Amino acid sequence: MINPIHSLAQFYLPPKGSTFADVTDPLFDAILWISIVSFVAIVVVMCWFAIIYRRRPGYKPLPSPSHSTLLELIWTIGPTLILVWIFFQGASGYSTLRTPDQDAELIEVTASQFNWKFTYPNGDFGDTLHLSVNQPVRLQLVSEDVIHSFYVPEFRAKMDVMPGRRHSMWFKPTLVGEFKLFCTEYCGDGHSKMVKNVIVHPEPWDEMMRKYVRWKDAENHPVANGARLYNVYCSGCHSFDGSAKTGPSFKGLASSTNREFVSGSPLTFGGADSDEWKNYVSESIKRPDARIVKGYANQMPSFEGKLSEEQLGYIMQFLKAVDGGTYSEPPKPEKTQ
Ligand code: CUA
Repeated sequence: MINPIHSLAQFYLPPKGSTFADVTDPLFDAILWISIVSFVAIVVVMCWFAIIYRRRPGYKPLPSPSHSTLLELIWTIGPTLILVWIFFQGASGYSTLRTPDQDAELIEVTASQFNWKFTYPNGDFGDTLHLSVNQPVRLQLVSEDVIHSFYVPEFRAKMDVMPGRRHSMWFKPTLVGEFKLFCTEYCGDGHSKMVKNVIVHPEPWDEMMRKYVRWKDAENHPVANGARLYNVYCSGCHSFDGSAKTGPSFKGLASSTNREFVSGSPLTFGGADSDEWKNYVSESIKRPDARIVKGYANQMPSFEGKLSEEQLGYIMQFLKAVDGGTYSEPPKPEKTQ
């Protein structure tokens, strides 16, 4: 039998699955109730006036007052205060939703028609999003083709995924269970099937990673993939041990906090996991002439359309791995019993 209370809750808002629910739901409720109360009040008064002031035989309308300062003040100041309150609630909520927690773990998300791929800090990847309860995560999103949108209703977390540009969202799941990730931007005929599972595990992050995200694929660690791409495409002109070649060396690139160019203003980065750093690397590969590093001339061909976002991600992982000037093989997968 259907529980009416339960189905009403389902019809209304989904269960609160992240800390964002306490930010967004009260404001949603407030705006809903303000609208309901205003709507009912206006309709009731309108009907009441239509009845008592209707035209009828022998009825002489009173001359209407041209102005009431008190009424003007009430209906100007009242709604203004409500709107200002809504604005500040919205602005403070927005800033909470946009400011990642310092302890957030990074998961890279690559969307494509019609799939989601999640790459974890240990290099494992898959199409199920594994999370740990009360562990904040930052998702760095990029699309291979068209605009998609990441949405898990229980988390109240939603973000468009842009082709070729990395940007981040974050949230902190608070409810253990299995949820659905939806694509909420129409992206082609498979859009409605672009649904994946999100599992919030009760184990703490490290234990959860050991149990569910232990990577198994010896050949395809992102760093190893990046090393292969480096050998094919980059090694002719870029060293990673600091030695001079046609282009700047990759030594120290991932840990650099700023970069100066032949023309235009310098860039600053918040580390190799920041959106800014990754978008800079991505731009340098796709459009090398956009910013030319000080002391060099541009001799690099454009790789626009030649490398996928996935491959760019591998190269970025490789750059992080060789930041110190040496390359060591990525860790081998643990033995499964
Ligand atoms: Cu992807 Cu809709």
